[in-house]
Amino acid sequence: MTYIIALDGPSGSGKSTIAQELSDRLGIEYLNTGSMYRAVTKYFLDRNIKESDLDKIVENLGNIQINFNEGAIFLNGEDVSKEIRSDLVTKNVSWVSANKNVREKLVDMQRQIAQNTSFILDGRDIGTVVFPNANYKFFLTASPRIRALRRFDQNESDLSIDELEKSIIKRDEYDSNRETSPLKKAEDAHLIDNSDLNIEETIDAILAIMDREDVI
Ligand code: DC
Repeated sequence: MTYIIALDGPSGSGKSTIAQELSDRLGIEYLNTGSMYRAVTKYFLDRNIKESDLDKIVENLGNIQINFNEGAIFLNGEDVSKEIRSDLVTKNVSWVSANKNVREKLVDMQRQIAQNTSFILDGRDIGTVVFPNANYKFFLTASPRIRALRRFDQNESDLSIDELEKSIIKRDEYDSNRETSPLKKAEDAHLIDNSDLNIEETIDAILAIMDREDVI
C-alpha cells in the first residue's frame, strides 16, 4: 500500500533535510514543494513580471514546465537548482506563492506527481490543502533565531544572522496571513518544535510517532 507523509512548517525548520533523510531511510519518493514556488518565481523575475501583473501571471503559467531528475529541479528544461536559492528569489517567492492561480497550478502538479507512489512532501499547505488525507502529518517549527542560524550555516545567503532573522520573521508573517492556503498547522498534524533538537533527534521523534500510529 502506498502512503503520504505531509511535512509542513516555516522556513529553516529543517523540513527539507529531514524529508530527504526520511525518504532515503523509508525508501519513498521526496517532493520539495518550496522549490516549485521558487522555480515559478525565477521564471517571473527573468521576464520582469511583477506582483500586480495579474493577467500576465495567468497567461504565463501555461508556459511553465517543472520537472525533477535525481534531486535537481528543471524549469522548462533548464537546471535551476542553484539559482532558485538566490536572495532575490527568496525575497520575491512570498508574493508569488500568495497568488491564487500559481497555487492552483502547483497544487495540481503536486497531487499528480505524488499519486500512486509513497511520497514525503514538504511545504506549507501539504497537510491542510494538498493532501488533507495524508497518512501522517507533521508540523515542524523552531524559534526564528535558531532558524536564522541554520540558514546562515547553509552559506547560501549574503545576509548576516540578524538580517536573516528579520527576513524569516517577515516571511513567516506574510506566509501565515495570506488569504490563500496560509502557513498553518493542520488540526491533526503532530507539532514538533525542534529548536533544541538536532536532525537525528527530530527524525527519531517522527519515526517514533509513525511507529506508534502505524496507520498504513
Ligand atoms: O520551503 P521554502 O522556503 O523553499 O519555500 C519557499 C516559499 O514558498 C515560502 O516562502 C513559502 C512558499 N511555499 C508555499 O507557499 N507553499 C508550499 N507548499 C511550499 C512553499
